[in-house]
Amino acid sequence: MEQFIEDSSLEGWKRIGSGGFGHIYKARHRQWAYDVAIKLLRPDDGSNESLLREIEMMRQATSPYVMAVRGVFKGLPPNATSDLSTQLGVVMDLMKRGSLASLQEALDGPPPWPLVFRLAHQVALGINFLHSLTHPILHKDLKPQNVLLDDSLNAKLTDFGLSRISYSVAQVSRKDDGWGTTNYMPPEAFVLSYKPKRASDIYSYGILLWSILTGKQPYKDAKAAIVEVQVPKGQRPPIDDIKGDAAGLTELKELMKRCWDEIPEERPQALECTTKAEKLYQMHEHAIFDAVYEVLKKLEQKEKEDKGINELFQRTQIAKASESDRFEEEDVVDNIRKGPPPIQEQKEEEDKGMKEQFQRTQIVQDSESDRLEDVDVVGNIRKGNPQIQGRKKGDTSRGPLGDSRTFGS
Ligand SMILES: Nc1ncnc2c1ncn2[C@@H]1O[C@H](COP(=O)(O)OP(=O)(O)OP(=O)(O)O)[C@@H](O)[C@H]1O
Ligand SMILES: [Mg+2]
Repeated sequence: MEQFIEDSSLEGWKRIGSGGFGHIYKARHRQWAYDVAIKLLRPDDGSNESLLREIEMMRQATSPYVMAVRGVFKGLPPNATSDLSTQLGVVMDLMKRGSLASLQEALDGPPPWPLVFRLAHQVALGINFLHSLTHPILHKDLKPQNVLLDDSLNAKLTDFGLSRISYSVAQVSRKDDGWGTTNYMPPEAFVLSYKPKRASDIYSYGILLWSILTGKQPYKDAKAAIVEVQVPKGQRPPIDDIKGDAAGLTELKELMKRCWDEIPEERPQALECTTKAEKLYQMHEHAIFDAVYEVLKKLEQKEKEDKGINELFQRTQIAKASESDRFEEEDVVDNIRKGPPPIQEQKEEEDKGMKEQFQRTQIVQDSESDRLEDVDVVGNIRKGNPQIQGRKKGDTSRGPLGDSRTFGS
């Protein structure tokens, strides 16, 4: 095992995601001179030999369809609370496009067909690679959050084999946000004697295929306890939620249903999933560049809009802060809370709520801008802000991709 990556090697820490067990950070590696992602796993209490062996195994699993582990972190992230002891973590490449889950959220639906079929193929390639290692690795936590996307939206699996480590060292309480692992777990997992097998991953792949095809989360509004009862009784996500038509769609749906078969032995092996998905993707490969370009353009547009909203939000906060010196309690914008201004360190959740309110206010303002040419909204913030107003009237480009899924079909 080579040396640890210490906190002194990393700078510019920023939290970029949170899972059920802890946080993911990005930071710049001073010597490598690029940003990496760090997943903190557990305190370094000197009893972590098996964890380190596990990570070493992950490091040896190199495939284009599996996230490369670049090293083991040992240290404290900056601003760590005083009760946090030295931590161990995994250092990996930073995937700037985030996860499949974040793509689904941004598009508010499934991507164009060529990308659907490529994702189905690349995820199968990742699983097949892990299953065919000399010491096979079971993923055990396949879900859209654990499918990361590179700059060209190619998929790589992450967190393979980590679930066992995570379960034993929960750092923060698991929140049941509907994206929980339970929804991807096979029926046999809900009995005490459960031992995960390759077929368990194949079941999760089946559910993941449904999510890729629909852009949705399975059993979104159901409680985990209900899912645990209903799935062993044969309940699966509704096939009718898969909309539209495309070459190879019937075959992909057939594969999906075989993967989520009740009986593990009836499920296909990863190699069969891979070769089937490869054949189906070949029907759409000619249109993949257009599809990727279209999605990247939409993501970029959305990022610009979000950035504009963020900047406006921050300026509003500053305006509110300076106003508060003079006024005890004053309405700032209808529906935005009154009282003393929140300080910079306020909780992220609070910020998020405020931003959502702000966004809603902005939408109302956008629609009003047809009537009111140039009216002050809050303090110094003027409605004619070019970043928000830059979008032409009637431009629907931030809408879902549902209508544009015609590539190669
Ligand atoms: N290497 C990475 N590069 C960029 N973003 C990442 C990377 N790894 C994880 N993320 C982001 O961080 C989020 C949180 O990841 P994390 O693994 O902590 O939680 P999770 O996958 O949602 O749940 P779980 O705790 O079950 O793994 C992911 O959804 C993903 O968007
Ligand atoms: Mg994860």
